[in-house]
Amino acid sequence: MRFRMFESAFLILLLLSNSDRGFVSGQSEKDFLLQFRNSLTYDSSVSTKLVHWKDSVDLCRWEGVKCDSNGRVSGLDLSSESISAGINDSSSLFKLSHLQSLSLAQNSLDSAKLPSQFGHLTELRYLNLSSSGFSGQIPSSFSNLTRLVVLDLSNKFYSSLMLENPDLGRLVRNLLRLRELYLDMVKISANGNDWSSALPSSLPNLRVLSLSDAHLTGPLGSSLLKLQSLSVIRLDRNMFSSPFPPFFADFPNLKVLTISSCDLSGVVPRKLFQIESLQTIDLSNNRDLEGSFPEFRVNGSLEKLMLSYTKFSGNVPESIGNLRMLSNLDVRSCSFSGPIPSTIKNLNLLVYLDLSQNQFSGYVPSFGFLKNLNVLNLRSNRLTGEIGDDSLWKGLENLEFLDLSENSLQGEMPASLLALPQLKSLHLSYNTFSGSIPQTFFQLQNLSSLSLSSNKFSGSLRLSDFSKLTNLVSLDISHNKLSVHVEERVQLSKLFPRLETLMLASCSLQKIPNLQNQSSLMMLDLSHNELEGEIPSWLWRVGDDGFLFRFLNLSHNGFSHLQQPYKMRGLDFLDLHSNLLSGEIPTPPPSAAYVDFSSNSFSSFNPDIGNILKRVMTFSAADNKLVGRIPPSLWNATGLRVLNLSRNALSGHIHLRLGIWKIPLQKFPESSYVGNEGLCGLPLNISCDGRGREMYASGGALLD
Ligand SMILES: *[C@@H]1O[C@H](CO)[C@@H](O)[C@H](O)[C@H]1NC(C)=O
Ligand SMILES: *[C@@H]1O[C@H](CO)[C@@H](O)[C@H](O)[C@H]1NC(C)=O
Ligand SMILES: *[C@@H]1O[C@H](CO)[C@@H](O)[C@H](O)[C@H]1NC(C)=O
Ligand SMILES: *[C@@H]1O[C@H](CO)[C@@H](O)[C@H](O)[C@H]1NC(C)=O
Ligand SMILES: *[C@@H]1O[C@H](CO)[C@@H](O)[C@H](O)[C@H]1NC(C)=O
Ligand SMILES: *[C@@H]1O[C@H](CO)[C@@H](O)[C@H](O)[C@H]1NC(C)=O
Ligand SMILES: *[C@@H]1O[C@H](CO)[C@@H](O)[C@H](O)[C@H]1NC(C)=O
Ligand SMILES: *[C@@H]1O[C@H](CO)[C@@H](O)[C@H](O)[C@H]1NC(C)=O
Ligand SMILES: *[C@@H]1O[C@H](CO)[C@@H](O)[C@H](O)[C@H]1NC(C)=O
Ligand SMILES: *[C@@H]1O[C@H](CO)[C@@H](O)[C@H](O)[C@H]1NC(C)=O
Repeated sequence: MRFRMFESAFLILLLLSNSDRGFVSGQSEKDFLLQFRNSLTYDSSVSTKLVHWKDSVDLCRWEGVKCDSNGRVSGLDLSSESISAGINDSSSLFKLSHLQSLSLAQNSLDSAKLPSQFGHLTELRYLNLSSSGFSGQIPSSFSNLTRLVVLDLSNKFYSSLMLENPDLGRLVRNLLRLRELYLDMVKISANGNDWSSALPSSLPNLRVLSLSDAHLTGPLGSSLLKLQSLSVIRLDRNMFSSPFPPFFADFPNLKVLTISSCDLSGVVPRKLFQIESLQTIDLSNNRDLEGSFPEFRVNGSLEKLMLSYTKFSGNVPESIGNLRMLSNLDVRSCSFSGPIPSTIKNLNLLVYLDLSQNQFSGYVPSFGFLKNLNVLNLRSNRLTGEIGDDSLWKGLENLEFLDLSENSLQGEMPASLLALPQLKSLHLSYNTFSGSIPQTFFQLQNLSSLSLSSNKFSGSLRLSDFSKLTNLVSLDISHNKLSVHVEERVQLSKLFPRLETLMLASCSLQKIPNLQNQSSLMMLDLSHNELEGEIPSWLWRVGDDGFLFRFLNLSHNGFSHLQQPYKMRGLDFLDLHSNLLSGEIPTPPPSAAYVDFSSNSFSSFNPDIGNILKRVMTFSAADNKLVGRIPPSLWNATGLRVLNLSRNALSGHIHLRLGIWKIPLQKFPESSYVGNEGLCGLPLNISCDGRGREMYASGGALLD
């Protein structure tokens, strides 16, 4: 009896607790969720939440589930659960009527139609379906989610979501509480005045507006300014094709403004950069956008300042040193001039500094002790003087990338530069640095990419000097006054197993380095050296049996023949010009785009050459000893844009096929053929009729 009483009391308790726990028409929320889980297709080896849901465990302790104080499911986070199918309008998910927060972000639903039932979860404050894979029109029911504070339907890479009918205005009409709206990659296709006036009338509290890649067009209406609470505006990669709207400088709370690649023009108001709250500004890649820097306030809050590929000009003021929070400054390919301000060394948080491709002049300032600096790019400016002062480079503990190429810098390498512990990529090409390459250089174990070409470095080196740089992927020491000694017994693939690019032009090489089994090699330049004799067959097999090998330059040497047999496979660029090669022109690889055999002593063609050169765009066999008829197959090489056979003794008809060479005709100037006494036909000003003096005024006529 006692037992029975206990049992029924327990039952009553159970019933009570069940009604507490979302007991709806005979089924609990637990049942709904289990039912939902069972209808899903997901990868249980990736899932960290769904896989652990167990009937025996209290629902409120399930991974990804949150309950309110009454034990009803109020939050569900199924982001990154590898869900690929199983969500539609009949899903029991939509029976969880108390849900306030729902995320299905980062799943891989394969273009499943976005269910309109989401619009019935009217308690939702937070809905995150970003990068979930849903597709199609955003249903009008979403405008019933009047309690929403955050709506994220954005995508990072690709989306086939649309917001056309209803449009943006109708979607947000009732969402008066919305503070954050993310629709990046959603195809909104709205005209500027429409979307920029639709938002302010409905969303008085909006703080975050993120509409990158949304197929929006311009102009941007000033009614946007009514959204006075806006602090984050992201509009990248929309084709506004309009002047920069000056009102962007009038948002009092603006923290983030990114509006890159939008085809904006006009002048950016300087006061934009003085907004006190501003942390990130990205106006990159608006190639007609002009502007210049104002004086920066003391303790400015800017962290990221990105203006690359715009027409910003003028000086960078010394007051940039006031931006103590600055971590990224990117003005690559703008029109800035004047000195690089010395105050940059005060920017202790700087991580990324790209001032390349401008007209900065004067000395390289000291970057001393910017210990967070990771990337420093000063390429292609007008910097002068020496960089030998050790204070310039000391303390750059985290510098991995340094590019000073294409300036007018001189002097010797300072020891401090060569002691940067994390340096991975160092580019000093096209300056007038001199002196020998210091031994400390060869201790930079982490170095993977090094270019010193076209300077005045001198002295002699052995390739094995680089042997400690086992991480080398790219080495370019061409065109200096270096004399590089090659030890034949040293197989470079043992020293530099990852080498992809090796540029040793003008290095007084007398032997080909042993590159056998260099399986990653893609580019090799041994031009302008003292190499003689045969081109070994193994050379064509570097780079994964030739398949990765893209670029070979052996020009300006004394090679006399190719070791037989040989097989060229992957090369796109092959330059053998100015050697002593003779006999039949080698058969170039079918993939080649650029082939130069000029200034050798070749005397004949493989008659089938044109059928092999299918993709070649530039082919030169000028200045050889070619005699006789041009092989007719050559006119089958339909990709040719430049053909140079000048300075030979060729004869026969130039047979340009109509429809194939129509346009490139002009690109074969007469000079391409001069010196071949026997040639006639277009584009030469020599008719083939009677070897005559007849003139061809313009293209069109064909000769057989
Ligand atoms: C919805 O999904 C469930 C489970 O995947 C499936 O059984 C049902 O047929 C689907 N309903 C519709 C209307 O597509
Ligand atoms: C949506 O979820 C993704 C993935 O979890 C997250 O990165 C993003 O910040 C979320 N969006 C919002 C507005 O919280
Ligand atoms: C929005 O909610 C109202 C009232 O609950 C309902 O009548 C209407 O059908 C809903 N609209 C949509 C599009 O779901
Ligand atoms: C700038 O910040 C520093 C350190 O936080 C502070 O001591 C100084 O008073 C600030 N200066 C101004 C003008 O706000
Ligand atoms: C190479 O980098 C690692 C960390 O990435 C660092 O610990 C090591 O000291 C560096 N090597 C040298 C020789 O500086
Ligand atoms: C290249 O590698 C192959 C296979 O790994 C090996 O048999 C051959 O001896 C190597 N050649 C040289 C020159 O090291
Ligand atoms: C090959 O090297 C020579 C001399 O260094 C240079 O003039 C030529 O442009 C190079 N060829 C290619 C295709 O880059
Ligand atoms: C040109 O190509 C066509 C079609 O591939 C072929 O039939 C013809 O023999 C080729 N002409 C020459 C001269 O090789
Ligand atoms: C053709 O080659 C010759 C000899 O190499 C060169 O002088 C001439 O400029 C070239 N012509 C064209 C059009 O490239
Ligand atoms: C061809 O050459 C003659 C002189 O030899 C010249 O008068 C004429 O303009 C040239 N025609 C063309 C199309 O270059």
